[in-house]
Amino acid sequence: MKEQLEAVRQAALAALANAETGEQLEELRIRFTGKKGELTGLLSRMGKLSPQERPIIGQLANEIRGAIETELKTRKAALEQRELAHRLRRETVDVTLPGKHRQIGRQHPLNIVLDEIKDAFISMGFSIAQGPEVEYDYYNFEALNIPKDHPARDTQDTFYFSPEMLLRSQTSPVQIRVMEQTRPPIRILAPGRVFRIDEVDATHSPIFHQIEGLVVDRGITMAHLKGALELISKKLFGPETQTRIRPDYFPFTEPSAEISITCYKCGGKGCRLCKNEGWIEIGGAGMVNPKVLELCGIDPDIYSGFAFGMGLERLVLGRYGIDDIRLLYENNTKFLEMF
Ligand code: DAH
Repeated sequence: MKEQLEAVRQAALAALANAETGEQLEELRIRFTGKKGELTGLLSRMGKLSPQERPIIGQLANEIRGAIETELKTRKAALEQRELAHRLRRETVDVTLPGKHRQIGRQHPLNIVLDEIKDAFISMGFSIAQGPEVEYDYYNFEALNIPKDHPARDTQDTFYFSPEMLLRSQTSPVQIRVMEQTRPPIRILAPGRVFRIDEVDATHSPIFHQIEGLVVDRGITMAHLKGALELISKKLFGPETQTRIRPDYFPFTEPSAEISITCYKCGGKGCRLCKNEGWIEIGGAGMVNPKVLELCGIDPDIYSGFAFGMGLERLVLGRYGIDDIRLLYENNTKFLEMF
């Protein structure tokens, strides 16, 4: 029996030394020290031994069980250690590898310039106003002193839904909506999309953007208008930029003016862009027509106001030296990535 026990010890230790996985270890534990294992099997025959032999064999059996259990533990720890080292090696992150390129969106040039203009006017105490793109003929024309058969309607070829409803052809109707709703002092900037029937080419688009400004208070004069325009032109195109206002005609302003700034390409010397004039027109302006004030319930004997409307696209094209308006609408990412 002693020899048989020693044989089990040998077999067990040899097998354990060769075990490569946790499962193999578990199989060996069951095979040698489990309830139906080889060691237990031998011990069940202890009853046949003499009383003298029994304690000696019992002690030996316990010692062997202990040895096998210790070896199981040692082997298990070694295997776990090896597995951990392996995993650490496998899961190492090589921080020197190049990163994944992520494409990040950017602000559209129209919004870059619009935000600058908004910031400049907000810093002068203006707030931002909005009006609907689907507008009544009343706000787009009638209330702006442009009656049904007025020739000024011809210059803005308008998309009509019905005789009363249209796609606004200018942001000026926002002036009326604001003056109907608020009492002076009024200082608003109303940027937005406008619509005119037009073929698309390098300088035209049926959808474009205007920025409308309106100030109504006591004692407002043309000088305030000029000051506001100068500030914004210098901010957008540099401190050398000059602003010019010349007489023009708009039914909703009196007097009316055309706004120009010194050419952003040649600085005023004259070039192809400004057709050798040195000036580039950026919009219209004027003193709010007393008739318009009155219609909105503002007393023209107490209050006066100035208004202006500028084309945003023209400013953006000039600012970045872009020569085709279509680039602003095509959403070509190669183009947009340049800003
Ligand atoms: N709404 C005019 C246009 O689209 C531009 C304009 C001119 C706006 C004079 C104004 C203004 O506010 O006072 O042609």
